[in-house]
Amino acid sequence: MKHLYKQTGLNHLKRREGDADDQIPTHTRTPRTPKTLPRPLNYLLREQRLLFVFVGFLLATTFFLVQPALLRLGPVGPNPLLLLNHNSHNHRHLLPVPAGVRVPPRRVVVTGGAGFVGSHLVDKLLSRGDDVIVIDNFFTGRKENLVHHFGNPRFELIRHDVVEPILLESKERNDIHYFMSLRSKLNHGYKTNVMGTLNMLGLAKRIGARFLLTSTSEVYGDPLEHPQKETYWGNVNPIGVRSCYDEGKRTAETLTMDYHRGADVEVRIARIFNTYGPRMCIDDGRVVSNFVAQAIRKQPLTVYGDGKQTRSFQYVADLVDGLMALMESEHVGPFNLGNPGEFTMLELAEVVKDTIDPSATIEFKENTADDPHMRKPDITKAKELLHWEPKISLREGLPLMVSDFQKRVLEE
Ligand SMILES: NC(=O)c1ccc[n+]([C@@H]2O[C@H](COP(=O)([O-])OP(=O)(O)OC[C@H]3O[C@@H](n4cnc5c(N)ncnc54)[C@H](O)[C@@H]3O)[C@@H](O)[C@H]2O)c1
Repeated sequence: MKHLYKQTGLNHLKRREGDADDQIPTHTRTPRTPKTLPRPLNYLLREQRLLFVFVGFLLATTFFLVQPALLRLGPVGPNPLLLLNHNSHNHRHLLPVPAGVRVPPRRVVVTGGAGFVGSHLVDKLLSRGDDVIVIDNFFTGRKENLVHHFGNPRFELIRHDVVEPILLESKERNDIHYFMSLRSKLNHGYKTNVMGTLNMLGLAKRIGARFLLTSTSEVYGDPLEHPQKETYWGNVNPIGVRSCYDEGKRTAETLTMDYHRGADVEVRIARIFNTYGPRMCIDDGRVVSNFVAQAIRKQPLTVYGDGKQTRSFQYVADLVDGLMALMESEHVGPFNLGNPGEFTMLELAEVVKDTIDPSATIEFKENTADDPHMRKPDITKAKELLHWEPKISLREGLPLMVSDFQKRVLEE
């Protein structure tokens, strides 16, 4: 067919030249190839065009089938987004993402994100490219802690009490929850820790999110083991004045592990030791904020009991790094997150005096019931498995919160 076509084309040329037309023998001009196929089909069948069409079709089909799956992948390399893929049974994050494929940002829900620790966590998550939804009822949190994110399209703030369920939808099963809670407001503190944790675990189960419980060193109560390891079960008074908080967190840990074992929810548990830094609630009774606010207001620093009880104090940036490391790891925990440097209350008062006002005086008051005599984390587990340890000492960290407190005290 190819040969005849060429010959026909030649004849046509010769005809146009005019001079040689009559010299061509009649049998070469007629008859032309009998047309068995329509001209477009004929065209398609020549020069392996059909093969090219078929290969193109195959490539396009493969691309459209694979593309949605690629879009769900995390990026590779040092970008932390990829390390936080929630699904431990699925190692999508280890696959390379082809250049040009857009990686959707991850959404993180931070309950209690308007509070002290929560707002620092929100800063960190947004700064590395996550979308953040904060849920807060502003019991102790403040909009001022988040105001610098207002107008950021990757940030949302919902006023809601987590004691009530909340319905959030997720297109992908890759959202992550960070759970914060009220520190201790008697009944509501207990409700928040128990009902709030339950509601958020239910949500995490429904949308397949990884869930982080920010528990506390208070689960160790007045410890009989020192320093405290995660294996220690604690010494807690179940009917004391602090029980709402302590037992609330212990119950929250129980619920978290039950959802993990029974409903296959991916969970992480952090046991946070005393933390300080900018944006702390000024008057919530925590010892560092108490001392700093009192020194700024030129009031005596209140020491309860003889001041020989010990605590460890970690700077908030260290804690946030620890929480992120925990979320990115494949370890459930619990993990102690705290600074092992141990101070008596009197030593802490001296550091505050040195930092803010050396002339400040100390006032002793009767101690509160069930106040733990000592508290110091053993962080061997976090060091080994999370490769995390705090970097900022009390003397370095304290000045970093003082200017924030000075500004807020002046505004009162
Ligand atoms: N800061 C510490 O030293 C420390 C120590 C141990 C554990 N923790 C834990 O870390 C978490 C954060 O503590 P923080 O120091 O930032 O406290 P915070 O009081 O500053 O923050 C708690 C936030 O949760 C919000 N909240 C409380 N109850 C709520 C509810 N029912 N619904 C919605 N929002 C609610 C508050 O408004 C606030 O914004 C808490 O879970 C706390 O138990 C903190």
